Amino acid sequence: MDIDRIREQIPVCRRMVYVNSGWSGPSPVSVVEAIKARLDYEMEQGPTTPDVRESGREIQDQTRLAVANLLNAAPEEVCLTKNTTDGINIVINGLTWNQGDEIITCSLEHSSVLVPSYFQQWRHGAVVKVVALASDEGHDEILAKIESAITDRTRLVFLSHIQYSTGLRMPVEEIRRMTKDRGIMMLLDGAQTAGHIALDMKAIDCDFYAIPGQKWLLGSEGIGALYIRQDMIPQVQPVHVAGRAVMPHDGPEDMEPEIASIDKLKGSSTSTALQAGLLEAISFVQAAGMDEIEARDLDLASQLKQSLGETPGVKVLSPIERSGSSGLVSFAIDGMEPEDAVARLWERDRIVARQVGFPHGIRVSLHFFNTEEEVGQIVEAVRRLA
Ligand SMILES: Cc1ncc(COP(=O)(O)O)c(C=O)c1O
Repeated sequence: MDIDRIREQIPVCRRMVYVNSGWSGPSPVSVVEAIKARLDYEMEQGPTTPDVRESGREIQDQTRLAVANLLNAAPEEVCLTKNTTDGINIVINGLTWNQGDEIITCSLEHSSVLVPSYFQQWRHGAVVKVVALASDEGHDEILAKIESAITDRTRLVFLSHIQYSTGLRMPVEEIRRMTKDRGIMMLLDGAQTAGHIALDMKAIDCDFYAIPGQKWLLGSEGIGALYIRQDMIPQVQPVHVAGRAVMPHDGPEDMEPEIASIDKLKGSSTSTALQAGLLEAISFVQAAGMDEIEARDLDLASQLKQSLGETPGVKVLSPIERSGSSGLVSFAIDGMEPEDAVARLWERDRIVARQVGFPHGIRVSLHFFNTEEEVGQIVEAVRRLA
C-alpha cells in the first residue's frame, strides 16, 4: 500500500492529524469530484433528459453492485439508504412485533441501536434485554452472557459489529451460530465496519446489516446501504411507502403490496450525485485492499495502545487482544475530562479525536491513511496532557 500516494489524495492529511473516521472520514478528492461532476452534468444537461436519466440509472445499478461486492452479497439483497440508522429503522420498524418478543442487545451500544429497540418496547410491548458488557470484554464472556440472556421468547439479536465506544469487535459469527437454529434473527449495525474491515455476509450469515458511506469508507454524508438476506426480504414491511412498494396491475384500483423485492424499501427520488460519490469511495478503499486496510488499522491501533499503556496517568479502555480489537482506540487521562482533552489535542496539536460517553474516554480512529509518525505525535501530545 502506497501510503504517501493515498495521503496525497486526501487533502485533510496535509493540515491535521485526522483520527476521527469513526465519526466521519475525510474524503479523497476523487469522491468529491464524482459528486460535483454528476451535479454539473445534471445542471448542464437537464436532470430529466434521456441521457441523464439513463446514466443515472447506471450509476444507481453500479453503486448497488459495488456495495454488494463490498459485502459479498447479491445486488438483489442490497438497498441504498441515507445512513446506518436509516437502514436499522427500515428493518426494526418493518418487522412485526408481538407483546413479549425479546430483543437482545448490549450495554456498550450506540443510541442508534438502543433507541430503535426501545421504541419497539414502547409501541408493541417487545422486551429489550441489555446484556452488560465491559468495554474490553473477552469473546468467551460475551458469548456466555448472550447465551444466558436467550429465552424461547428471543426474536432478535441486535448488535454493532464493532462497538463505537472502544472499538470492541464482537464475535458475530459465533453469536450467529448460537442463535440461528433457535430461529432468532440477527440485525447488525455496521457503522464502524464498512471500509474498516473486510466484510462477508455469507460468512457472518446474519439476516440484516446496515452501513454508512461517510465513516471508514470516506464517502459523503447522506448515503448508506442496507443488506437483507434474500429469504428475509418478505419479512420486512416497508414503513415509508412509495411506488416500488406495490405491484400495479390494472390501474389505481388494482394493486397489491410488493413482498419479494428489496426495491419495495426504496422510497422515491434520491441523489444520484451521492450515489456517484459512494461508488467512488468504495472503489478508493478497494484499490487499497480491504484485507490490507484491516491489518494496517489493527497494527496502528496496537502501536498506539502499547505506547499509551506505558504512559503514566493514561488508562487504555479498548481491548488489547487482537481478535477483539479494531482501528478504534479509547483511553482516559487521570484527572482530565475527555471533552477538555479532545479540545486541547485540537487546539495545540491539530489532532482531531472525539470523546465517548460509556465508558467515559477519548476516542481515536486509526485508518489506513494515518501513519506511524502520527501515532507517535498522538502519544507525545497525550503524554504532555497527562
Ligand atoms: C455504532 C454506530 N451506529 C450508528 C451510528 C450512526 O450512524 P449514521 O449517522 O450512519 O446513522 C454511529 C455513528 O457514529 C455508530 O457509531
